[in-house]
Order: sequence, then structure tokens, then C-alpha cells
Amino acid sequence: MTGTEGHDHADTRYLDAKATVDDRALDRRVADRLREELPPSPTVFDAGCGTGVTLPRLREWGVEPAGYRGVDTDAGLVAAARERHAADTVSFAVGDAVAAAREAADGSFDPDLAVAGSFLDLVPVGEAVDTLAAAVGPGGLVYAPFTFDGRTTFAPAHPADDLVERIYHETIDAQPGRNVRAGRAAVDHCRRADGQLLAVGASDWVVRANDDGYPNDERYFLSCILGFVADALFVDGGDGEGPTDSAEAESVDADPTDRAGGAVADADPTDRAGGTVADADPTDRAGGTVADADPTDRAGGTVADADPTDRAATALTDTDHTAADLRDWLQCRRRQAEAGELVYTASQFDVLYRA
Ligand SMILES: C[S@@+](CC[C@H](N)C(=O)[O-])C[C@H]1O[C@@H](n2cnc3c(N)ncnc32)[C@H](O)[C@@H]1O
Repeated sequence: MTGTEGHDHADTRYLDAKATVDDRALDRRVADRLREELPPSPTVFDAGCGTGVTLPRLREWGVEPAGYRGVDTDAGLVAAARERHAADTVSFAVGDAVAAAREAADGSFDPDLAVAGSFLDLVPVGEAVDTLAAAVGPGGLVYAPFTFDGRTTFAPAHPADDLVERIYHETIDAQPGRNVRAGRAAVDHCRRADGQLLAVGASDWVVRANDDGYPNDERYFLSCILGFVADALFVDGGDGEGPTDSAEAESVDADPTDRAGGAVADADPTDRAGGTVADADPTDRAGGTVADADPTDRAGGTVADADPTDRAATALTDTDHTAADLRDWLQCRRRQAEAGELVYTASQFDVLYRA
């Protein structure tokens, strides 16, 4: 997963932060099956390789590729990958991975394994699977871990959760080639194709804080996810700033007393600051205090001024919610992330297919 137009998932820090979330989420059973099926020193094609994280992951499993080629459209990521993984047997290229796989199928590079990590939701799924399968040839393997599958949750619950998820997913789906249900589409496609669907497992992301806060750089990861959602909700992403800036601005600017005194005078300020928005009466919130609130008091920043995207505005017309609910959602989520109270999950599949 899974950016929208503004904030960018092709970002080194985001992908590094994502790696520890992925490591926890990875389905071990599917990975074990992959290891069993691989030849001792496989040649690997990595579609949408990002920073080349597949290489250390394979090595952790005791798999040393005889050859590796990673392809990614993002030149900055490819430069970072080259710097991190310089070796004679390793190469990276900037470009469309599906087109590169098509060329590999012509014999220029003969992979045993094609990896597509967090990738199949970004491109037409069936075409990508078929092209990767053709690249590895009969008996070769296609491994697609962390393939997003259409469920995004945030806890504690907020009255606007379902609406926000809908707007977020519709925004992703509206982008060419993208599919929020890529996981099940990949499974279905592999099941019907000529090869064999060897293994499927769930690799849901779960991000939550422990006693020391969010592990590793996962608070940044969360701020990126909230940035992706904010891009879907508001024309300027809710603040016109990048995720780091906005997360840091929130931590400095946020004054729970102001918020309580302004926007949600009828809610328990401690609860709100602590994140139990789910307890607030949605009717009151939509019809009264939030919508009428002084934007400056509420935000201590700019979310209060944010205009919904056209898609969000259209979605709102089908509901009892108002734009103020979306602003409140984003404010609450940012504050909860800052306080270590936000739990985020995304449903994903790991898929292993033999061509
Ligand atoms: C979510 S990232 C995953 C990166 C890496 N596989 C990982 O798991 O960390 C998706 C990557 O796909 C790249 N990408 C998107 N569309 C692409 C395409 N058509 N061809 C090659 N790379 C693409 C993006 O630039 C981004 O680096």
C-alpha cells in the first residue's frame, strides 16, 4: 500500500519504515514454501524493487541469489538501492517493471523467481502476474508479498471511519491501473491461470505503539499513511505539508485545552485528547459542535481550513456527515498517532504461484 496523488510511497524513509512493519506481517508459511521451491542460488527479478529490500530478506532466509535485477520507476529509489547493494551479481534499472519483465521473457535475463512486494495493487494485476510468470518461464516462481486487499482500519473507532475508508479506497481505485482489492484479484487470477497457486497467506499490517512508543521508525510510517488518507480527503492533503512536517507541527502546536475549549466543548476534554472519540455522540458532532467550531481554535493549524476533494464532497452527499467530520477525523488521528494511541491495520495477501 498505497499512496494517493500527493504524498509519495516512493520515498526511501517511508520504505525503510515500512520494512519493519512488513517483517512482522510476512506470512511465514508462504515464505517457507518459497524457500522449499527455490533452487539453491536463484536468479531473481524484483518488480517495483524500491530500495532493494528483497535482497536482505532473501539472505536472512539463507538464499543468496546468483543474479538479481531490480526495476523501479523511481530514479531516487534506484539510486539508493544501487548504493546499498552494490555487487557484480546485482543490478537495478529505472523503468516500468512490467515492461522490463516482458523483455526478460524474451531471454535477456532468465529469472527463477519474480518478486512483486507491495506492487500488484499499483498495476493491472492480471497483466502483471501473467508477464512475471512469462518472465520466469514454466516451473519458475512468482512471489507477491504484501499485496493490499481492500481493508484499512484505524482504532480507536471514530464516527467517520467508514466514510473515510470509502473515500480513501475510491481515490486509490480511480488512479490508472490501481486496485485496492489486488490481493484477492491476484489469488483469483493465479487460481484460474495455467500454473499452480502454491500458497496464500494473510500478511496484514498492524502498527501499534508499545510502552516505548511506536517501534523503529513506524510513527513516521503512520504519518505517511495519514498523509495518503489526507490527500484523498482534502485538496491540499489537509495542510499542504509533508507527513514529517505535519506530524511534527501537530506535536508542537496541538493544545488539547484549546481544542476542548473550542470545538468539542460538550465532550470530555481528557477523553478527546486521549482518543476515545468513539464515545462521542455522532449526531451531536455532525450537526453541532464540530461543524460550527472556530477553525483556528480547532486546528491550531490548517486542517480546519481544508476543503474536501471533489470525491470526498460527493461521498458526503450520501451520508449524514459533514466536511467538519472529516477534518475532525484527521485531527484526531494525527493527535492519536502523536500520543501513541493510534492502531492501524491494512489487509494484505502473500501469494506464491508456480508458472
Ligand atoms: C510500495 S513500494 C514497494 C517497494 C518494495 N517492493 C518494498 O516492498 O519495499 C512500490 C514501488 O513500486 C514502484 N512502482 C510503481 N509502479 C511501478 C511500475 N509500473 N514499474 C516499476 N516500479 C513501479 C514505486 O516507485 C515503489 O517504489
